[in-house]
Amino acid sequence: MQGFQLLVFCCIWLQAWAAKDYLFKNCDQLGFCSRNRHYRHQVEASGSHIPYFVDPQSIKVEDKVTGTILKKLELNELIWLPFELSLLKGDNIRFKIDEDRSDVQVKGVNPKRYDETAQAIFDGPEEQKIESLEKVEVTKEKVTVVYGNQDQYKAVLDLNQVALTVYYNDEAQVSFNSKQLLNFEHYRPQKENEKHVHSQLELTFDMWKDSFEDAKHDTRKFGPESVAADLVFNGFEHVYGIPEHADSLSLKDTTETQWPYRLYNVDIFEYYAESRMPMYGSIPIMIASKPDVSVGVLWLNSADTYVDVRKGKDVTTHWISEAGVLDLVILIGEKPASINNNLGLLSGFVGLPQLFALGYHQCRWNYNDEDDVLDINKKFDEHEIPYDTIWLDVDYTDKRQYFTWEPDAFPDPIRMLRKLDHTGRNLVILIDPHLKLGYEVSEYVDKAGIGHKDALNNTYKHHCWPGESVWIDSLNPSAQGYWDKLHEMSTENKVLGEAENIHFWNDMSEPSVFDGPETSAHKDNLHYGNWEHRSLHNLVGKSFHELTYNALLKRYEDKTRQRPFILTRSYFAGSQRTAAMWTGDNMAKWEYLKTSIPMVLTSNVVNMPFAGADVGGFFGDPSKELLTRWYQTGIWYPFFRAHAHLDSRRREPWVPGEPFTGHIKDALRLRYALLPAFYTAFYESSTNGSPVIRPLFYANPENPDVYGIDDQFFLGNTGLMVKPVTEQNARSVQIYIPDNEVYYEYTNSVPGKAIKDSLGSVKKAVSLGDIPMYIKGGSILPRKDRYRRSSKLMHNDPYHLVVALDKDGNAEGLLYLDDEESFRYRDGDFGIAAFEAKEDTISGNFVSGNPEFADQLEHIFVEKITVLGADDVTGAEISQDGKTGLASVKKHDGYVEIVGAKLRINKSWSVKLQHSSAHDEL
Ligand code: NOJ
Repeated sequence: MQGFQLLVFCCIWLQAWAAKDYLFKNCDQLGFCSRNRHYRHQVEASGSHIPYFVDPQSIKVEDKVTGTILKKLELNELIWLPFELSLLKGDNIRFKIDEDRSDVQVKGVNPKRYDETAQAIFDGPEEQKIESLEKVEVTKEKVTVVYGNQDQYKAVLDLNQVALTVYYNDEAQVSFNSKQLLNFEHYRPQKENEKHVHSQLELTFDMWKDSFEDAKHDTRKFGPESVAADLVFNGFEHVYGIPEHADSLSLKDTTETQWPYRLYNVDIFEYYAESRMPMYGSIPIMIASKPDVSVGVLWLNSADTYVDVRKGKDVTTHWISEAGVLDLVILIGEKPASINNNLGLLSGFVGLPQLFALGYHQCRWNYNDEDDVLDINKKFDEHEIPYDTIWLDVDYTDKRQYFTWEPDAFPDPIRMLRKLDHTGRNLVILIDPHLKLGYEVSEYVDKAGIGHKDALNNTYKHHCWPGESVWIDSLNPSAQGYWDKLHEMSTENKVLGEAENIHFWNDMSEPSVFDGPETSAHKDNLHYGNWEHRSLHNLVGKSFHELTYNALLKRYEDKTRQRPFILTRSYFAGSQRTAAMWTGDNMAKWEYLKTSIPMVLTSNVVNMPFAGADVGGFFGDPSKELLTRWYQTGIWYPFFRAHAHLDSRRREPWVPGEPFTGHIKDALRLRYALLPAFYTAFYESSTNGSPVIRPLFYANPENPDVYGIDDQFFLGNTGLMVKPVTEQNARSVQIYIPDNEVYYEYTNSVPGKAIKDSLGSVKKAVSLGDIPMYIKGGSILPRKDRYRRSSKLMHNDPYHLVVALDKDGNAEGLLYLDDEESFRYRDGDFGIAAFEAKEDTISGNFVSGNPEFADQLEHIFVEKITVLGADDVTGAEISQDGKTGLASVKKHDGYVEIVGAKLRINKSWSVKLQHSSAHDEL
């Protein structure tokens, strides 16, 4: 198709797809969801439920507790459901219920319930996550397990009710099946269905078919096979997590709506700014917090899932998955951050990104050709705006065939990449999982049998951007070798060559299928192992970006050892290890700017911190004011990229003109100044799971008023608290000060008035250039203030420390350093500078995993220290390397600047603040 025809096709296509409610099933339209909701209503109304109980004779205690749960049918027949209660690393308790299907045979399909989700989520072999249970007591009524180094945890399984309650410090925190909503739709042949249904309690809606128009051909070979149960969070008011939804951070009560939170990865472009509808990714993790306890639940299931939330004195949740085993982990700790750490011990932490990936990404659909790319690249320099990466969307390819370049537009991509590299810039190109029929890549996939298969085990062929396509089955181990080859770093590779500054965007990986049910793949498709797509749908996107990640590891292996960068649209729990995500196709409207903050925060609280939203809004044209406010918000997204749809007007930072461009430039420069703080926050997250941007309840769990706040957040541990402006024509904002510490105004990095003892809401006047910020007393924030064209060129720049003294005159902070691009940090090539302010002395101490690495930092200095809360300082005495001297002090209203010092980052040093006579400069 020619460019113009393509454009017309796309416009028609997009118009046809603009309204989308009708494309997606709500709970009433989905058999498994309606049946389980109906069941809940019956249980609540009648008090009776299907009897499930543990056969006490079956219980075995070894490393874990195993046994059989019996489900009693109406005619007293019993269904056998083997269960396991086990302890996992990090004091996490796991409860898993399977079904014995050894006698079941269904032609061409794996008859077992899919039980590989846990392995996909865990970051190492499942067996290695298991810790031996040591204190177990079994009686006729219950199994009690005590664990934790101070026996602070206890899990009690009631055998008659199959109810599991988990206690922390003797208080029940989370209970499974205390409301008796456990429902395990066991296997039965269709003709015997009647004998298997509890007539009073169970609905038979869509057990054997799908009445939804687009899904009516679903063969539903196993009939009903959902798993569901209630989880109660005792004494908690708020629950968070289970992305992806365009919704508030604190989850809403859904019981009276048609839309419980749905986890089903779909291509939902032009999604609503407030909705529980499914989106591109899903992470089945919920967390809850109250002043002295935090809890988490990891639901190890990758099938279509709904979660109903009911709020009251406790939060009661009802989890419903279409297929698979019932498998969950309950995590408990004191602070919300301990839940992130415990989760990370199971599913791994965020992969430490290269520094460039935390810089600014300039994207649109599309930069048309090499000249266009290089022109944009040049304009950033003309306007003295830093940026790191330019992106090419789908149309850089020849007829949307991935692993090709459009020959007229990009005749010599390696030349273009080299030109970008002159100023340390990178290129990201898009590679999707659908492969256009009729060229060598798709032909290979088809012939080698490494594509998705349809229900009859033929290569699945449907439509996406290039027209009729096949999909690589990233769950098939044989797909890896081919994908490696396509990504190989070699001069023979005409697509990627030996370029080191090219990175990848895996889009449309839910997978998006234009003519598929609910815009995705057919649920009765088959994957490697003859598993039905239905059971593993939500982890397909993750398996695809992991396929790319593994290929890139090999690409860089012998040469650069660089950390791969991949942006994925579809994701699952565990995706944080290898990819960044963004929130997909939003709109250039104020409400989407607003909702992006809780969306990115939600992702952060469930261990997927490398998250962002399209700055400017994907669809439509933002006003200049909106665009400015979006940049001022976007600089806080851990993943910071502007992107725009092909019908939208150009809107690079210089396009709106003054005063907007100036404000955008200030915002971008602030992001670059804060890169050391972002990088350090990512380092911390990569070791303990703490969110890169974090809601107020992380810092102040003791304050009940912060739990509902989701338009304000902290950047890592830096003490920097931000409330971006997301209202049109804003003249002021209300900022919430969460405790009685001193907070210093820091709007646009200009220190202002300190707020003392003003717990509660503060009104702050704002103009268009303002990004409202405070820095909390007790923090030391590292910055790099020199303007450079890209982050790579900042590598050796000096630091500026902002020391915000607390009420007692103390502060502390961290800075993480490494080569900012390779995996050498894993061999010890990293350093951590710890800063402290105490008793009028500011000091730095450095530790490194490798003295040679420390030596490489020889010429990196702290050149300036701003001290907030020390306005009577008159001098500063420096000590380092056994020598002392004086630095100059510039006094301002409320703060001082210590300048002229060259404090070596890789050594210990101190600066003693003096409060009396004037001093000469060093
Ligand atoms: C869908 C993505 O969400 C969007 O960002 C991209 O521009 C289009 N696909 C075209 O590749």
